[in-house]
This record gives sequence, C-alpha cells and structure tokens, in this order.
Amino acid sequence: MSLKDKYKELEQKNKEAEIGGGPERIAKIHASGRKTARERISDLFDAKTFVELDKFVVHHNTDFGMDQQKIPGDGIVTGYGKIDGRLVYVFAQDFTVFGGSLGRANADKVIKVMELAMKMGAPLIGLNDSGGARIQEGVESLAGYGDIFFRNVQASGVVPQISAILGPCAGGAVYSPAITDFIFMTKETSYMFVTGPDVIKTVTHEEVTKRELGGATTHNTKSGVAHFRAEDDEQAMLMIRELIGFLPSNNMEDPPVKPCTDSAHREDEKLRDLIPLDPNKPYDMMEIITSVVDDNNFFEVQPHFAQNVIIGFGRLNGKPVGVVANQPTMLAGVLDIDASVKAARFVRFCDSFNIPLVTFVDVPGFLPGVSQEFGGIIKHGAKLLYAYAEATVPKITVITRKAYGGAYCVMSSKHLGGDINYSYPMGEIAVMGPDGAVNILYRNKFDEKEKAKAVEDYRELFCTPYKAAGLGYLDEVIHPRQTRLKLIQALEMTENKRQNSPPKKHGNIPL
Ligand code: HXC
Repeated sequence: MSLKDKYKELEQKNKEAEIGGGPERIAKIHASGRKTARERISDLFDAKTFVELDKFVVHHNTDFGMDQQKIPGDGIVTGYGKIDGRLVYVFAQDFTVFGGSLGRANADKVIKVMELAMKMGAPLIGLNDSGGARIQEGVESLAGYGDIFFRNVQASGVVPQISAILGPCAGGAVYSPAITDFIFMTKETSYMFVTGPDVIKTVTHEEVTKRELGGATTHNTKSGVAHFRAEDDEQAMLMIRELIGFLPSNNMEDPPVKPCTDSAHREDEKLRDLIPLDPNKPYDMMEIITSVVDDNNFFEVQPHFAQNVIIGFGRLNGKPVGVVANQPTMLAGVLDIDASVKAARFVRFCDSFNIPLVTFVDVPGFLPGVSQEFGGIIKHGAKLLYAYAEATVPKITVITRKAYGGAYCVMSSKHLGGDINYSYPMGEIAVMGPDGAVNILYRNKFDEKEKAKAVEDYRELFCTPYKAAGLGYLDEVIHPRQTRLKLIQALEMTENKRQNSPPKKHGNIPL
C-alpha cells in the first residue's frame, strides 16, 4: 500500500465511523427533534477542543448475525474537550447504531473515559440516548452496565458527574444517570423508565403513555429524578456549560472564582419592606436570593420539584456558593418529604465539592399529615438534618422570619455546626407558633379573650430573634438590606475553615 493509500484508508475509516448508522437513521433522529451524538458534543464543548478516543472500536459479538454488522465506534462517541477552557470528559450514545444500546465494547469505551476522568480529576458528562442493554449480547451487556455503575459510585464525590437524557432511555440506561450528580432532560424528546409502557400494561394492567410515564415533565415535577428540563438538545448543552462554571473539576480543588465587578457593599433597599409583618403573609424568597448574589445571577437546580424549598448556585464576590432556602410562597415554606430529600442531596453535593452553603430560613416546621408520616417524613427529614450536620464546608445561615420546631434545628442552625448564623429583626424562633403553643399550654383553661392575650404575650416573648441572640445561637441580628455584605464577610472569614470528623468508614445516612 502506498503512503497515499494509507492516508486515504485513514480518511475512509474516519468517515465510516463518523456516519454511524448512516444518513437514513441520522435523518430519522433529526426528524424526531434530536441531534446526533457528534452534533451534541460540538454544542457542548468550546469550538475545536473535542478529541475523540476509540473511534475504531467494534464489538466482538457473533450471535444474531451481529458479525455482519460492525460499525466503527460501536454506537458511542467518547473523548475529552474543554468547557470555558477547562478539561471535561464525555461519552455520547449514538442512537443511529443499534439504538445506542450498550454492549461489552461500548461499555469499555465508557469505562475508559470514566477512569481517565477520575485519574486526571475532571468532570464526566454522559449524553444518553439508548435502548439500554444490547439484547444480542446478553449477560456481557449486563456486565458492562454493572462495571459502569461500580465506577459511577467510585467517582461519586471525586469528580462531578452530569447526565443528559436526550432520547428514550430504558433499563440499564437510566441507572447510571441516577447515580450521577445532576440529570438534564429535554422537554419533548427524552424519556426515562426502568420498564416501559408495554411491560407495565402486561404486569399491572395500567395504561400510560411514554411521556406520562417518564417524560421530562414527569421526572422534573413528580418523581424528582431529573434536575433540569431543557427545551431541546442545544439548550441542554448550554445549561450543562453554565452548571460546570460553578463546579470545581474535582474534590481536591476549590470551585472556580470569577472576577467580580458587583460591589460587596451593594445594599438593596427593596429588602427592607419585602417581608410582611403579618407572619401568615407570604413573600418570594427568590427576591432575597437574586438580590444578594453577584449580578443577581442565580442558577436554580430542580426548579420544578418540591418548590417549597429552593436550591441552586450563585456567586458571592466571585466565589460559588450553594444556596438552600425555604420558599414561603409554596406551602408556607414547610419541609415535607420531597423538600427534605431535594435539599439533603444538594447539601451533600456541595459538601463533596467544597462549595460553601448559604441557607435562608423561613420555615413553619415539618408538614403534618398522615400521608407524610406513612411516607416516612421521619427518616426523610432526618436526611436533611444528617446532611447539614455532616457538611464541613462553610455554613452561613440567615433566618429571614420563621424558624420553628425541628425545622429550626435542621436548617443549618448553630447546633448543627452553622459557622455564622444571622437573623433579620423579623426572626421568630420557638418550638412552635403562638396559636399552637397557647392551645397546648392552656387547653380548656382560657376563654377566647384570655387566649388572645396569651397569644400576644407569647408573640412578644418568643417571636423575636433576641432570645436566640441572647444565648449566642445567633451571631448577629442584621438589617436585610445588608445581607450581601454580611454573607461576603462571613464567607471571607470562613475561607480557610478546617474541620475534621471522627475517622470512620462512612456514616449511615437514613436512606
Ligand atoms: C439492541 C436495540 C435495543 C436494544 C433498540 N434497539 N433497543 N438493539 N438492543 N436494547 C435497536 C432497534 O432494534 C432498532 O434497530 C433501533 O435500535 C432503533 O429502535 P426503534 O425501536 O426503531 O426506535 P424507537 O421506536 O424510537 O424506540 C426506542 C426504544 C425501543 C423505546 C428504546 O427501541 C425499545 O423499547 N427498546 C428496548 C428497550 C429495552 O427493553 N431495553 C433493555 C432494557 S433491560 P433497527 O435496526 O431496526 O434500526 C436493561 C437491563 C440492564 O437495560 C439492567 C442493569 C441494571
């Protein structure tokens, strides 16, 4: 073979790999509103930074006539590239080749980038679009999944792992994403389920569409499996880029600092009148959050699920923080099962990756109710308590109004290791609200007039921050307009925090 022919052969092989399942299948993908694996990668990374690995890998299966169907790359594109100049690894399943299904060779490609990501300390992004375990390969494909799950767990808390679900993902294709830190879905074109509508109909006789069962809206609002809902593939890639901007590359790094032009001393007069004196009147906690973070830029996580608690990322004086906040406009900001689990997982993520926690508290307590008790609010609420107590990153807390009962303790209180705990002058910190307390203390003893007076006395005595401040449980009572400066001062003060926990294999969080 001449030199010229050798180059021609390389060109030919590259072309063959890049065309995947062929123009017809690519057209079908486009017609369904999706992009191909390579198009997605190109949207994800900084221009011309993607380097592909294992482009010519093929499967070794001979059953079901598979020896006649070998496509270079074997239905998955893997490699590395840059997001805002920072190294990131990727695998992208190619639905045009055997439905993006996972066999042994395909799994080994994923495993290679997972191991590289862990070794080099860089995030791993999985772009999923797959029919699950490759049926023709039987147990070898199951083994491939098992090997990936194992590495997902090894990598958890070491490098950020992000999944995008961009097509129909069934069976094994959903369990690897489930172990990762964040899941993105596309609005009209993605589905996640362990078993699809046909199997469900046979087993439980329930009739449900693919979309109702496992569409982006279902997993973003009902199950809480997904964290983000994008309009389409392109928006999903942009959102992933934005998220990566808040995260360190691995657990040994601090999160990336950006130059900040927003003054630390910026005060917001609007916050003075935001919180109504009437404790039964709601206000939007998002106004406080967006007011205090740099350039009012807050990247909310799980915005559609358990909206009584807000979680997300922002920056204070250029440094990323994780924000957790009760939302009084939704169920009065109460903590229920979903809100507790949502916030607990976020707190643990931030702690894994050295992201300080800023907590805004306005919580009337845990949600009472038979369904909550039967559903295990005790163990799910305990998750949040556990997560805050376990977290060793700087923990700064602002009580904006109510902090009642167990929920006071849970929401990053001094007692769980809060480093700086502030309250606004409107803070109300007690075992329970005045009406409930008086009902219990003076049941059947007081007439209505006496009761009203007792409620007023209780309010005067307990519904202030000064009792807690007098005990040192609060470090400072602050004016709301100064929140930004106070948070930045506290974060600067805690920057070199060192806290060691007793040696142990791992704790036993109530799962
Ligand atoms: C091999 C597969 C495949 C699979 C799809 N294909 N899934 N090939 N193994 N698991 C192939 C199809 O044969 C087809 O090939 C091509 O991919 C496109 O599939 P379509 O069915 O035409 O596409 P669509 O109508 O969009 O439906 C997509 C789908 C459906 C919903 C994903 O294909 C489907 O239900 N697949 C099976 C899902 C499943 O049950 N997987 C196993 C899960 S068990 P051609 O040549 O016709 O284009 C599992 C165990 C792991 O994953 C457990 C670990 C814990």
